[in-house]
Amino acid sequence: MAKILTVTLNPAIDVTLQLDNLQVGEVNRHHAVVSHAAGKGLNVAQVLKDLGHDVIVTGFLGADNRQIFDAHFVQEGFENQFVYVAGETRQNIKIAEASGRMTDINGKGVQIDTIAKQQLFDKIQSLLTHIEIVVIAGSLPPGFDANELKQLIEWLNQQGKKVAVDTSGQALSAAIAANPWLIKPNGDELTETYHLPASTYLEQQQLFQSIGHMQIQHIIVSMGEGGVNWLHPTHPLHAQAPKVQVKSTVGAGDSLVAGMIHGLLTYYSPEEILKTATAIASHAVTQIGFQVPDLSVIEDLKQKIAINSLS
Ligand SMILES: Nc1ncnc2c1ncn2[C@@H]1O[C@H](COP(=O)(O)OP(=O)(O)OP(=O)(O)O)[C@@H](O)[C@H]1O
Ligand SMILES: [Mg+2]
Repeated sequence: MAKILTVTLNPAIDVTLQLDNLQVGEVNRHHAVVSHAAGKGLNVAQVLKDLGHDVIVTGFLGADNRQIFDAHFVQEGFENQFVYVAGETRQNIKIAEASGRMTDINGKGVQIDTIAKQQLFDKIQSLLTHIEIVVIAGSLPPGFDANELKQLIEWLNQQGKKVAVDTSGQALSAAIAANPWLIKPNGDELTETYHLPASTYLEQQQLFQSIGHMQIQHIIVSMGEGGVNWLHPTHPLHAQAPKVQVKSTVGAGDSLVAGMIHGLLTYYSPEEILKTATAIASHAVTQIGFQVPDLSVIEDLKQKIAINSLS
């Protein structure tokens, strides 16, 4: 199977506090606290690994609280090639109330300096001969700007690597300007970045035409329960998301990215690729977490997904 490198520039430790009722401005007591290693690139890595691919993980981590990531990488069987910087990886606090309401307080991220950036480039360069695809997913940390993301993608393009990017805001427009192999924004991220409507295929198509970056081979626009549009140059397709019982949408987009990469590596038919990826993403929302089930479950779910041509 292909070797895939995932780059998580701004990972986080997700800390979920469970309590009855959040009283703002008061002393609150939680029932339980759970921490886990998080970050979109790491989520994509996990789904790809579940699907049988060899995965190497890199990006930046704080040296002072690395244990939770070390344990996660061993458990998942990732080859760890992260660059360690002074300080702590950020924490994202999630306050989960009995009503189901969730309040998020996200950390900013550890400061990245020139030396760390050079270390990341050197590390990626040393891995390139083993790698076919590079996935860059998630937000950018302080000190690593959108233009540097663009340079990273352009350099990887020059090295002949397939680059898949999932990010938002300024980082998304910088990534799109670098013409990677694959992008997977959701409709809202496109609107937020370009201030243009992007809920229908026509609007999405017009948006990409107006920004003039149609060299991107695979433009995948996800729309939550509205499914997926693949703005394929010759076979634009829509996948209807199957009706499922939703438990948590965390990792849905990451599962779609991993599912598309898996599909593109496995199948020839665009319909089969999109159907497989959509099934993997839609299964992810039926559980807390986003573990890929036995592939027979994915095959069953695929039967419930309609693929329509958009041309
Ligand atoms: N409620 C749902 N029912 C069925 N499938 C869903 C649902 N929500 C998401 N999915 C599946 O997951 C895919 C990705 O979801 P979505 O568009 O919400 O990604 P995203 O906004 O990038 O998510 P993330 O928060 O993980 O970044 C959808 O295209 C769909 O296939
Ligand atoms: Mg997303």
